[in-house]
Amino acid sequence: MTHAHIPRRWYENAVFYQILVGVFNDTEGRGIGTLKGIAEKLDYLQWLGIDCLWLSPFYASPLRDDGYDIADYRAVHPDYGTMEDFEDLIAAVHARGMKLITDLALNHTSMDHHWFQESRKDPHGRYGDYYVWGDDPHRYPEIRIIFTDAETSNWSFDEVRGQYYFHRFYKEQPDLNYDNPDVHEEVLSLIDFWMDKGLDGFRLDAIPYLYERDGLGGESLPETLEFIEKLRAHMDKHYPDAFMVAEANQPPAETREYFGDGDRVHMVFNFPLMPRLYQAIATSQASPIVEIMPELLHLPAGAQWGNFLRNHDELTLEMVTEIERDLLYSAFLPDDSMRAHLGIARRLAPLMDNDRAKIELMFALMFGLPGAPFLYYGEEFGMHDDSSLQDRDAVRTPMQWEPGPGAGFTTSDTPKRPIVGGEGISVAEQRHDPHSLLRFTRSLIAARKAHPELGIGNYEAIEVAEPALLAITRTLKVEDRVIASDPLSSAPLVCLYNFAPHPLAIPPQALANLSGIGRVEIGSVEAGTEIRSGDVIPAFGFFWLTAQ
Ligand code: NOJ
Repeated sequence: MTHAHIPRRWYENAVFYQILVGVFNDTEGRGIGTLKGIAEKLDYLQWLGIDCLWLSPFYASPLRDDGYDIADYRAVHPDYGTMEDFEDLIAAVHARGMKLITDLALNHTSMDHHWFQESRKDPHGRYGDYYVWGDDPHRYPEIRIIFTDAETSNWSFDEVRGQYYFHRFYKEQPDLNYDNPDVHEEVLSLIDFWMDKGLDGFRLDAIPYLYERDGLGGESLPETLEFIEKLRAHMDKHYPDAFMVAEANQPPAETREYFGDGDRVHMVFNFPLMPRLYQAIATSQASPIVEIMPELLHLPAGAQWGNFLRNHDELTLEMVTEIERDLLYSAFLPDDSMRAHLGIARRLAPLMDNDRAKIELMFALMFGLPGAPFLYYGEEFGMHDDSSLQDRDAVRTPMQWEPGPGAGFTTSDTPKRPIVGGEGISVAEQRHDPHSLLRFTRSLIAARKAHPELGIGNYEAIEVAEPALLAITRTLKVEDRVIASDPLSSAPLVCLYNFAPHPLAIPPQALANLSGIGRVEIGSVEAGTEIRSGDVIPAFGFFWLTAQ
């Protein structure tokens, strides 16, 4: 068989890092993170091994939804700095060979956006049809309410216009009307505005929800997918190196729709996999992962999953069954104050009971299963959360650079959100400690980079009789073995993950692809250790093994 060599795109094996601008690093002493503050921390991010930064919204906004309510797509929120600061940040990121993507909420705007202000005042004017207006607040009854904690309807009455407007999220976030071609033009033009500044791509927020149709649930409609194709064609034509990652929190088969035939988005967040990683930990069974994987393989060329454990939202459990949700609640929701909507607003480390082995196991899965990994700021050193804060603010507290009152985040006494703190939980405390979680994360990133097959290679589950053991062989695909004479490029990497709370003896089948002996590349014992069948993998331990 011959394999056409399709060059790999940069994002397919990149390591991503999500930053909430307002809580990352304050350079002005006002308690609010700034764009300049991010530029100051590029050294750290590069040291860690990050390839691409994702900035959550930093546009002009009343911040009713932490910036996902955009009031002006072309302006930087003054709290975070200026447009010049943003341009300087792109230049600084690129100077280090790193990339930068931003978040774009295209489904809705803030009520404060001038389009909405005009639309409500003048139904027949230029913006009259920019939003989804109607006289019947019971239209589209099939469309679910997403922010169940705050909203009881997707319609709100606007006194000015004397009509209802439709909103998937908070009432302060009216949905744009994609049946209006002018809205398409606006979107393409604001994309050009940012891309022309040299950006490397976008995260497409809430992208399944662009259209509504009677009798349907209003998610992933053909019209929405068609618009995404239009967006992709525009990007390919004007910015062929850039990429888009879709936030499409949908059932697995539907999630794949967002790749199309490689003509929709380049990357989709791996919502099908994410809850299964938690399920495996909660049940000490590998099966939740083994069972979903076949549905996630064989993507079109250039398409990739964005793997993640946590982000700025709750741990979303909308797409699991009720039984699975109850199981996850009983494992990870000890107190109802930690619930947000249908999910759980906690960070990774507390979700794992701050158990180092479990945290490392989860990281090893995120970095070791097919896809590109996304770290959420602070996750790399086990930051805690604050469940006394409302909604998802619990997981959006300031980055902990140092111990002490301002955590090295700010010199102000009144940070944007309270600092959580915790002994030993900061960059400064962990950076020089070779045994710290931070140093582990950095080594894991390095190991992942040394093995591109983890992101883009073949995936083959190894059958083992032990239900708590996940055993996988990864090999580089033939078309990616650039140096044909290099025997390493076709050597298998065997990954073992133990979900049991006790050590397990490694069965012989697990090491068959390594002729019975593996060498630990990274894992729960020292690198270089030889592993043979019958040897033990620790409780919640993992090994990435190469041949001797
Ligand atoms: C998904 C974002 O991740 C979330 O934070 C936001 O509230 C909604 N979309 C609405 O934009």
